[in-house]
Amino acid sequence: MLHQSKGDNFMTQNHSEQVNQATKYIKQQENKVGNTKYRLNYHMMPPVGWMNDPNGLVQYKGDYHLFYQHYPYEPVWGPMHWGHAISKDLVNWEHLPVALAPSEFYDNGTLDDHGCFSGSAIEKDNELYLIYTGHSIERDPMQVQCIAKSADGIHFTKESQNPIIDHFPKDGSKDFRDPKVWQYDNQYYMVVGSKKDGKGKALFYQSSNLIDWTYKGVVAESNGEQGDMWECPDLFPLEKEHALILSPMYGEKNEKPIIIFGEMDYKAAKFSQERSMLLDYGHDFYAPQTLKDEKGRRIMMGWMDMWFSKRPSEEDGWVGAMTIPRELTYNHNGVFIQQPIEELKALRTDHHHIEDFEIHGVNRFSKFDGIATELCMDFDIINSDSPVFGLHLRCSIDRSEKTIIKIDTINEEVIVDLTLAGKGESGVYKAPYNIEANGKLNLRVFLDKTSIEVFVNHGEQVITNRIYPDASSKEVDLFAEKGKARIVKADKWSLRSVWKE
Ligand code: FRU
Repeated sequence: MLHQSKGDNFMTQNHSEQVNQATKYIKQQENKVGNTKYRLNYHMMPPVGWMNDPNGLVQYKGDYHLFYQHYPYEPVWGPMHWGHAISKDLVNWEHLPVALAPSEFYDNGTLDDHGCFSGSAIEKDNELYLIYTGHSIERDPMQVQCIAKSADGIHFTKESQNPIIDHFPKDGSKDFRDPKVWQYDNQYYMVVGSKKDGKGKALFYQSSNLIDWTYKGVVAESNGEQGDMWECPDLFPLEKEHALILSPMYGEKNEKPIIIFGEMDYKAAKFSQERSMLLDYGHDFYAPQTLKDEKGRRIMMGWMDMWFSKRPSEEDGWVGAMTIPRELTYNHNGVFIQQPIEELKALRTDHHHIEDFEIHGVNRFSKFDGIATELCMDFDIINSDSPVFGLHLRCSIDRSEKTIIKIDTINEEVIVDLTLAGKGESGVYKAPYNIEANGKLNLRVFLDKTSIEVFVNHGEQVITNRIYPDASSKEVDLFAEKGKARIVKADKWSLRSVWKE
């Protein structure tokens, strides 16, 4: 395999040679991804090889850029590169050459021999800067912060002054990674994830030029129940407050990302934690990152997968995907919501609409069949006497395979049950709901060939999972146990593919 033979000249090649080699390899392999059965219609995924965290989400010279943790040479995690894709609308993506590859020497060890780990992007003086963690298994400390920049947004040169932060501060430890940089009041700020004394921490830095950074202190840390290591912190203003997103680890186990709301005092380097919640109740949502776009929207994408999952697409030479982009806002009651971005509506074809529909028992509902669809449904909870009702999606003809969405009105939960969903992770994923003032519950479901994202009550909760049913499993049932359930209205669209494959 290339990355093994690559070992001979690895580290004797400079960065652009490493980048060109990876990009050339991807081009050669791209057409060889033989089986496309698991390839998604409208989610970002790598051309070949492995993908994890979104990195450097930014709008630069009008275009959206998404970088991502990438190992092109095999569909498993390896020395991390930064893959790169560009988009005009965050929906239609074009793959670009690899942006960063492990390459550099530093002192008597290397700067990033084991990878360019997660980080962020920012524009300064018309140039695009990538700020990432150089990870080395030979050096102590193993993680330092580095910069690369580009004038065309495609070819990146690593900064000669790297590392720009060469050691973790006293409040951190050797786990010191995932810098997120933003600008506020003409200054640059950075949070870096770390751990110490059994608590996950976000370490805070300030700079006026992106190269020289001053450590300001621990801006936020775990309250004792939010993990002992914080990965991928992202701190940003959101309307009248600030929000901190992080991906916590408990020991070796990665857990569901949370969002914390509070006030940010830049002078005192303190973020007050006022309230927090899970960003997603599903299995496959990790390391989310946000950007503020030119329309002023705060948009988030997450890695739609999880460490140590079953990944059936490995046999086809690729692994990993991103969630659909979500806009982060508040609804008219001031409740935080995550909603699929408007641009996704351009994918809709083949519309079906129903109104005033009553479900008893199990009803086959062929109008809603499909493997890449959007469903938007209002259930009348008050006037339904069935305690548990919902949908079976991606059903095989004999119903041995199905992905179940249940509305449990006794426990007030929306449940995604993957027990019969096919290959991939199983499990039952539950999110709490509050009935809306009019007695209704809204579900908006994005189904793609190997994923399901469920938005509850216009984004008050979200449940994201990868599923791997057979391509022929595409039927839909509506069901209501022990009584009837009322659908006020429901819409279904097929969603077309954004890829040429
Ligand atoms: C999160 C993470 C980051 C790290 C990257 C390595 O999923 O573990 O903390 O930078 O992945 O690929």
